[in-house]
Amino acid sequence: MEPFRIKSVEPIPFPTRDQRQATLAHAGYNLFRVPARQVTIDLLTDSGTSAMSAAQWSALMSGDESYAGAESFERFESVVRDLTGYDEVLPVHQGRAAERILLGAVLRPGDVSISNTHFDTTRASVEAAGAHAVDLPVDHATPVPFGGDMDLNALATRLRGADGPDARCVVLTITNNAGGGQPVGMTNVEAVRRLCDEHDVLLLLDASRFAENAYLITQRDPDYAHHSPRDIARVVFSMADGCWASLKKDGIGNIGGLIALRDPDLARRCRELLVATEGFPTYGGLAGRDLDVLAQGLIEVTDPRYLRYRAEAAHWFGSQLAQAGLPILRPTGCHAVYVDAAALLPQLEAHELPATSLANEIYLAGAIRVTDLGTLVFGRADPDTGHEEPAPRELVRFALPRRVYTKSHLEYVVQHAGGVAARAQRLPGYRISEQSPTLRHFTAVLKPW
Ligand code: F0G
Repeated sequence: MEPFRIKSVEPIPFPTRDQRQATLAHAGYNLFRVPARQVTIDLLTDSGTSAMSAAQWSALMSGDESYAGAESFERFESVVRDLTGYDEVLPVHQGRAAERILLGAVLRPGDVSISNTHFDTTRASVEAAGAHAVDLPVDHATPVPFGGDMDLNALATRLRGADGPDARCVVLTITNNAGGGQPVGMTNVEAVRRLCDEHDVLLLLDASRFAENAYLITQRDPDYAHHSPRDIARVVFSMADGCWASLKKDGIGNIGGLIALRDPDLARRCRELLVATEGFPTYGGLAGRDLDVLAQGLIEVTDPRYLRYRAEAAHWFGSQLAQAGLPILRPTGCHAVYVDAAALLPQLEAHELPATSLANEIYLAGAIRVTDLGTLVFGRADPDTGHEEPAPRELVRFALPRRVYTKSHLEYVVQHAGGVAARAQRLPGYRISEQSPTLRHFTAVLKPW
């Protein structure tokens, strides 16, 4: 059960069927364009959508808003140092700012960054630096405990191959959001560290969901069953050279991010970029009160009871969706349940956007907003022929904001998603009528076929 009780509540909207239909048509059949006041349960993302604790709300009032050398920064820095073991701590306004600054300082044109999977904003920062992003996730047909792992043979082959000397950094995204929210195991981190040492390459963590990754290690690796998530997180941080994180996830904050490093020289270069584009190094684009909220969030997030509730809620939700007829990716992680829309809607080809169709129908059924992670997001239209290069998978993500929805909210989602699954083979496809060349899913206008 939830290891907390509710002190403050917020009413949620209940649009009628007619309103949902009109809203979706007006939004060009794109859920990113739907106003939140027309959404009953919002599972679009777990990022920045968490509920703060009473301790976080009271930390807000101790925020020190001094421009330079604020006490809030000292508190934030000390919590991050204690957690990560890295001395150099830089706050930023969110994860992608950390990526732009750190990868901008590490990478030069022609360099290569290798990852278990670069999240889309990470890839954008690698490419903005003129470097190449290479994804080497483990390839598995059947479920494995650490589906977020890096493919070690592929990594060794790359590092020993012709473009090995261009490899500047290896990035482990923990957990692997783009790869189904699966964790990276301890033995994988150890092996990646050895390969980085052999080839003198920097090992960086995208630690946005570090606590969930640590908890899943305690559950899936018997060698770590008796360790606390915080101790495991510390061991994982100790094996890398530094990290960045969006603190909108496991910082349990509504905004914020960080860079933490061992190397003072790299940190100095990052600070130069930080001060030019984000803010003074002791606030980095955040208010002092945000830093206090995040410091408190980073303490709360490794509470084993909280993490157990989080993982069990996701597991229960996934098994209910599966029983209701939705093909889910297994095993479930912590921050979301992923549904295979291609398996549920076999009548639709990738260019008919099955993930979009499923997500839109779930909105129409119960004003529930989920994320489309199919061809609309990861596919590419050839600029000359208009031919659609499909995404590797047609997934729909039911993301779980932290401490926000109760079991009965999720039961409501299961009931409506189950109704949609029962008539899945009659759902319409969609086509794109307007799109921008980059990140088209945020603004695209669609039409049912
Ligand atoms: N890295 C990972 C693994 C992420 O999941 C995200 C954001 C970022 C970096 C970027 O951080 O949003 O603070 O700039 N993921 C969100 C999501 C948007 O919905 O999964 P940001």
